[in-house]
Amino acid sequence: MRVLIAGAEGQIGRALAAAAPSGIEIRALGRTQLDLTRQGEAARRVAEFRPDVVVNAAGYTAVDRAEAEPDTARAVNEEGARHLADAVAEAGARMLHFSTDYVFDGERRRPYAPGDRPNPLNVYGASKLAGERAVLDILGDRAVVVRTAWVYAARGRNFLRTMLRLLNEREQVRVVSDQVGTPTSATSVALAAWAIAGRPDLHGIAHWTDDGVASWYDFAVAIQEEALHAKLLTRAAKVLPIATEEYPTPACRPRYSVLDCSATRAALQLAPDHWRAALRRTLREPTDG
Ligand SMILES: NC(=O)c1ccc[n+]([C@@H]2O[C@H](COP(=O)([O-])OP(=O)(O)OC[C@H]3O[C@@H](n4cnc5c(N)ncnc54)[C@H](OP(=O)(O)O)[C@@H]3O)[C@@H](O)[C@H]2O)c1
Repeated sequence: MRVLIAGAEGQIGRALAAAAPSGIEIRALGRTQLDLTRQGEAARRVAEFRPDVVVNAAGYTAVDRAEAEPDTARAVNEEGARHLADAVAEAGARMLHFSTDYVFDGERRRPYAPGDRPNPLNVYGASKLAGERAVLDILGDRAVVVRTAWVYAARGRNFLRTMLRLLNEREQVRVVSDQVGTPTSATSVALAAWAIAGRPDLHGIAHWTDDGVASWYDFAVAIQEEALHAKLLTRAAKVLPIATEEYPTPACRPRYSVLDCSATRAALQLAPDHWRAALRRTLREPTDG
């Protein structure tokens, strides 16, 4: 199987390359080699490599900045996804495309199933929803949209890395406790994506996160406990729960965005680890400083 990865230098992109099963020929392209907003570039790259599967791990992921740059967010997350899907259709290949729990408004109190009605609260979520619809419209049953959530890795820009820095620098860290979701390691997403890549019978929307549920506050407390245990921190800071209103951000976020992954788990015969176990493992991986 030949697999082209777009967005190969992001946290999921890197995890995909690191977790690739043997026997797969990969072309991993970062933004400098394949910029989804550049006209014709996706078509050229796909035609050159002739992949069986294209994985789109590229995205505009700055949720707050997107409020001030909606055109840029859409250019990558909607138009970029469309360019890539057009190229995949032309090549007769399949596509895996990542999307987000932020397509939901968070008003319900039970996990969101793939068929539940999306209603994004912010520009990022709206651009991702438009992107997943474009991919499914163009490719039909030759596309799988994998919605995931709260992704972190040992490297890159993410909540884990930010918390480790703040817990190290400050006596006290205030963290929102009334937004609930599931922290998910990029490695877990990559393993599920490879399993899906090997299953041409799967199509449509799939949900995938690690197991369990947490608030950002719970996640921060666990990061501190596990980092102290791993001797990545030398003393405990005070972690204080606060309400969303006490930490105003440009983008509104859903209060509850747990994804129901049961259908994907059953289809793949794969069970993710609990987020806390995945966190412990991630903290043992090398970081970029
Ligand atoms: N992070 C999360 O919590 C989360 C949650 C749910 C879903 N997702 C989805 O998962 C996917 C991957 O996210 P991630 O966490 O791996 O994000 P990430 O670490 O921010 O990686 C995204 C990558 O896409 C690249 N990129 C941006 N604009 C591009 C363009 N025009 N053409 C090609 N590449 C471009 C970025 O390059 P630069 O660094 O140079 O900008 C970056 O390397 C995205 O679709 C995201 O929406 C993420």
